[in-house]
Amino acid sequence: MGGLMQKIVSLAKRRGFIFQSSEIYGGVEALWDYGPLGSLLKNNIKEAWLKRFVQERDDIVLIDGTVIMHPKVWEASGHIENFTDPLVECKNCHNRFRADYIENGDFIGQGKAKEKNQCLQCGGKEFTKSKKFNLMFRTFLGPVEDKAHQTYLRPETAQSMFTNFSQIQETMRLKIPFGIAQIGHCFRNEITTGNFTFRSREFDIAEIEYFVKPGTDEKIFENWVSEWENFFLDLGLKKENLKRHEHKKEDLAHYSKRTIDIEYKFPFGWSELAGIANRTDFDLSQHSKFSGKDLNYFDEETGKKYTPYVIEPTLGIERLLLALLIDGYEEIKGARTKTTEAAKEIETMLKLDKKIAPIKVAVLPLVRNKSELVNKAKEVHQLLKPHFACQYDELGSIGRRYRRQDEIGTPYAITIDFETLKQNDVTIRDRDTMKQERIKINDLVKILKEKL
Ligand code: GAP
Repeated sequence: MGGLMQKIVSLAKRRGFIFQSSEIYGGVEALWDYGPLGSLLKNNIKEAWLKRFVQERDDIVLIDGTVIMHPKVWEASGHIENFTDPLVECKNCHNRFRADYIENGDFIGQGKAKEKNQCLQCGGKEFTKSKKFNLMFRTFLGPVEDKAHQTYLRPETAQSMFTNFSQIQETMRLKIPFGIAQIGHCFRNEITTGNFTFRSREFDIAEIEYFVKPGTDEKIFENWVSEWENFFLDLGLKKENLKRHEHKKEDLAHYSKRTIDIEYKFPFGWSELAGIANRTDFDLSQHSKFSGKDLNYFDEETGKKYTPYVIEPTLGIERLLLALLIDGYEEIKGARTKTTEAAKEIETMLKLDKKIAPIKVAVLPLVRNKSELVNKAKEVHQLLKPHFACQYDELGSIGRRYRRQDEIGTPYAITIDFETLKQNDVTIRDRDTMKQERIKINDLVKILKEKL
């Protein structure tokens, strides 16, 4: 992993965003724990998504389905047959890789491979014939571990939105077009991992199954591509780092008539951040066939039934989080601080949008050896805590503490100084402009609410 990516990994670990799972045992590949700041950031991304696509809309409802479902679900959905990657084994070191990665030379420069068709681990050039490897994690329902009780951890959240389609439509009295949204844990036993959290084995998907009348699907598909892009732009991703990628017919998933990926310019190259698929009536028809239940929609206007088409905008929360860390990362060489000590250092900034920054407000007494200042700062901290995610910090010089907050993307820092004791006001420092203004403590909550 080179340059910028290595810096992101190290910042994420150093400042409590992301740790490797089970690190004290040597870690587990492609499994990541989100630390105190990482989990706040992740929650804020999910909240922004829920606010925009559920709370602010009249046509989308939220559900929370199970990770483990009836084994028949995966037969009907086509995942048992089709949710596979081509797998090859190196004849020299016996490591296994995704065949397409070896053919395309996708990880050249990160492993031992110097050219296409070489083993990433040992550089070997001979492989076994490619075979299909199913990416779903297998498990058993109940105490009997036989074929009849075998099922899988879900690789996407979509299926419970299909199996519950009729119940949700009827109980909520929904009229087409309408959507069902869900955010939840998904599991994929990825063969080749790497690039930090980009390809994890456990991750959260946020997706919507939007049910439409056949014939209206193509226009609605286009609308969802823009809706998805605008969400990313509003969270602060730079326009020049996003582009659309239309899947070729031969690359489409087994359920899709058309798919557009929204790609982000990761340091390791343009890669999928999110996608929009036209799943047609594939899933509802399959579940209807396998369950024997009627999953058609009754159109009151025409008095006729039909199987709705489904437009599915989907995104991986961890991929979005990674893109936001990369996009917001800036290095400034001593330019923002006046002290000679700081001028020599490279300041790291995370320009995260205020909506998602894990800590919104830092509370800092100017010095920590004056108990009046410390007590006042703690009082201000208590005042702000019910309203915003705050962090109190008294350790180190004030300049260093500002920089620590810049590094985790905190938009505002409140400083309690000697003037505070006389005038009952504080300074608010803006992360991006470094401008400071004095605000009366009585107005602080109101003004911060306006700013945030
Ligand atoms: N229901 C459709 C679906 O699951 P997908 O493109 O396979 O589509 C959805 O996955 C999103 O999940 C992707 O756009 C990507 O952001 C994210 N994703 C997929 N595999 C991932 C992995 N191994 N690690 C992290 N995120 C992943």
